[in-house]
Amino acid sequence: MDFEQLLEQRYTTKHYDSTRKVPDETVTKILECVRLTPTSVNAQPYHFYVLTGAAKDSLRPAIMDFNLQRYDGASHAIVITSQTAINEEHLAKVLAAEEQAGRLPTEDIKAAQDKSRHYFCNLHVTKGDFTTWTGKQAYSAFATLVYAAASYGVDSTALEGIEFDQVDSIMKLADKHETCALIVVLGYRAADDSNQLNKRPKSRLALADLVTYLN
Ligand SMILES: Cc1cc2nc3c(=O)[nH]c(=O)nc-3n(C[C@H](O)[C@H](O)[C@H](O)COP(=O)(O)O)c2cc1C
Repeated sequence: MDFEQLLEQRYTTKHYDSTRKVPDETVTKILECVRLTPTSVNAQPYHFYVLTGAAKDSLRPAIMDFNLQRYDGASHAIVITSQTAINEEHLAKVLAAEEQAGRLPTEDIKAAQDKSRHYFCNLHVTKGDFTTWTGKQAYSAFATLVYAAASYGVDSTALEGIEFDQVDSIMKLADKHETCALIVVLGYRAADDSNQLNKRPKSRLALADLVTYLN
């Protein structure tokens, strides 16, 4: 299946088959794809918590009623968090990973890369939009997540219908200087899922409505 077909066929699942669980190795494959998401200055200022069992149940109070059925029916909840403050340990890890990958062949290049990344992080702190900026990176990862899942035959639902503050508080995210950006649940659609494309065809605006060419 080419990428356009994947985009045409993936849809938001509303009813899951709660008897089916996404295998651990498939979840790992999906997360390996997510790991490759590009981010501004390669900052990767996010984290992914994979919740099943009691940990998943503990978040139920933060899920709005209309989303509870999908939350419960799906086998996994991925809580995507974004950083709320510069995390020096994290930035050092990013730099070390780049060095290990062979992207920083000299000490000068390494220092310049570190300086430039800090410049952009500090810029957003100064502008007061650091968390907005990291949240945008988290949303990029969300797109990778749902399409990677679809490519492995796994269904998904993005959940903005949640009490973000409650997620933060239940998961004690403030202690880690993180906040919930979005939750995505993964599982397999129920045979009678109400949102299947033969019942509710996909709808998007036309290119002419969305795209303007400027010369
Ligand atoms: C960021 C985001 C948040 C969403 N939040 C919810 C949600 O809380 N509950 C839900 O049932 N669907 C949610 N959706 C699904 C959208 O309503 C759906 O993606 C949109 O209608 C397009 O349909 P499709 O995904 O089936 O192509 C969300 C989608 C996105 C991208």
